Amino acid sequence: AAAATAGTPLAGTVANAVPVSKEVTVLVGSQTGNCNGLAKKLSKKLEEQGFQVTLSAMSAFKTNNLKTIQHLLVLVSTHGEGEPPDNAISFHEYLHSKRAPRLEGLRFSVLALGDTSYEFFCQTGKDFDKRLEELGAKRIAPRVDCDVDFDESAAEWMKQVLGALSEASAVPAAVDPGSAALLSRTESEYSRTNPFQAEVLENLNLNGRGSSRETRHVELSLEGSNFEYEPGDSLGIYPENHPRLVDELIEAMGWKAEEPVAVNKNGEEQPLREALLRHFEITVLTKPLLEQAAKLTPDSSLNELLEAGREQELRAYLTGRDLLDLVQDHNLRGVPARDFTAIMRKMPARLYSIASSSKAYPDEVHVTVRTVRYNALGRDRYGVCSVQLAERVQSGATLPVFIQQNSNFKLPESPDTPIIMIGPGTGVAPFRAFLGEREETGAAGKAWLFYGDQHFATDFLYQVEWQGWLKSGVLTRMDVAFSRDTDQKVYVQHRMMEKSREFYKWLQEGACVYVCGDEKKMAHDVHAALAAILEQEGKFSPEEAAEYLTRMQQQKRYQRDVY
Ligand code: 2AM
Repeated sequence: AAAATAGTPLAGTVANAVPVSKEVTVLVGSQTGNCNGLAKKLSKKLEEQGFQVTLSAMSAFKTNNLKTIQHLLVLVSTHGEGEPPDNAISFHEYLHSKRAPRLEGLRFSVLALGDTSYEFFCQTGKDFDKRLEELGAKRIAPRVDCDVDFDESAAEWMKQVLGALSEASAVPAAVDPGSAALLSRTESEYSRTNPFQAEVLENLNLNGRGSSRETRHVELSLEGSNFEYEPGDSLGIYPENHPRLVDELIEAMGWKAEEPVAVNKNGEEQPLREALLRHFEITVLTKPLLEQAAKLTPDSSLNELLEAGREQELRAYLTGRDLLDLVQDHNLRGVPARDFTAIMRKMPARLYSIASSSKAYPDEVHVTVRTVRYNALGRDRYGVCSVQLAERVQSGATLPVFIQQNSNFKLPESPDTPIIMIGPGTGVAPFRAFLGEREETGAAGKAWLFYGDQHFATDFLYQVEWQGWLKSGVLTRMDVAFSRDTDQKVYVQHRMMEKSREFYKWLQEGACVYVCGDEKKMAHDVHAALAAILEQEGKFSPEEAAEYLTRMQQQKRYQRDVY
């Protein structure tokens, strides 16, 4: 819209205009790689328009440069309870500290990624946006907050930003395909927004009889996809909702399975049942969804729940309930399917840490998925993708997939660097990829694995492979913690503490530490154990230990893939 202002200058002949640089710094703070993917796309577009782009992770950015740059684009996700992702922590702290400089000369915009089912939605993006303004920087396009189905909002933000930047610099777009190509590896025609239909080659339960757990090892063919991946990357899978839940929802609403509904903003239509199976999220409630739903019904109970002062009750209601609960609890029966699907979130892809090395399994990708089933609020509840894989995906079937690169979880550059891998449960998946890669490339560095689960006899995922690698020397040491084989629970962090001297020695030798798995409990306790090892063996004070770990994170010597 802004392009229509009077006196639009002729390309390349901006009279009296302050010279505006064509340099743009794109800073990324990302945990799962969504922001990285978007930042690469944006950088490519900017380069096509003749901008010189510096694309950097926040953790790698030299904060001294802040004062000299003119254009800053921030893409950042939010983690847990409104926290920055690991590689954004230090930059976030710096900007909010007294050391942060005035930034009057800076022009910026922020793209925030988040999830409306969390209370502190897009908090980190909001923090950056607010703080940059406080420091005197000028916003060139409003911040956009994206939900899990971020593609459309992110594209809109990019359009705004590109428009604002090209208008300001008003230099003819110099298409330089050469530099644009530098940004990406071999391009596949398939992506998050155009997933590849991968054939399932193998789908096994890794747990033994009698285990309380079920963990699927799924092998998929990538033949014909042109996908490339490295250890540490993730596989995105678009799942299907459970047919029973879909049918119950249709029944509860009095809808017809075959009535057509729009499945995207272009107005493409599909029969309702198909649409609910594949296109919409029906297992998660969010506050925005409830607000919209409240407008579709004369029943006032939803509006009451959304009233100010009832936040705690609302939070409790949103937790663990799905759309079937919502329509039953709040009398939404009768709302037309078209209206209701129009307010639903799109089905988001599930990301799984890849469990294979592409060098060991060319044209294949493997994932390790724990089946999530539980009974709550009077009903059996199922993890969407995991239960689909466990119950409804046989070999020969196809699944829509894409590769999500994750530059925050990568083997060290040198094959000689020792690595310590901590991955209880399905957290062990990427380490199967790490060791497969090190075996295929003949890497000489030492490797130490900490693994744990409930029972040795039934829950030792990939046991035969670890033992093979121990024998061949690809794996140097392995320590296991089976939490329910003994009276006292033992976890991976207890094993770390038992071996603290040796652990510290490896750190002194420059070992990289990798943690994968449960964030809230395990990764937190493992972090505390790392600090304890530094204090005990290195005589660090608690502050020094914390600083040391931060420095390790900045140097990519301590990387986490936690969920
Ligand atoms: P538990 O279920 O017996 O408590 C993989 O899920 C393994 O991680 C299980 O053995 C589980 O033990 C364990 N686990 C649970 N909480 C943990 C924590 N805070 N730190 C480390 N491991 C944990």
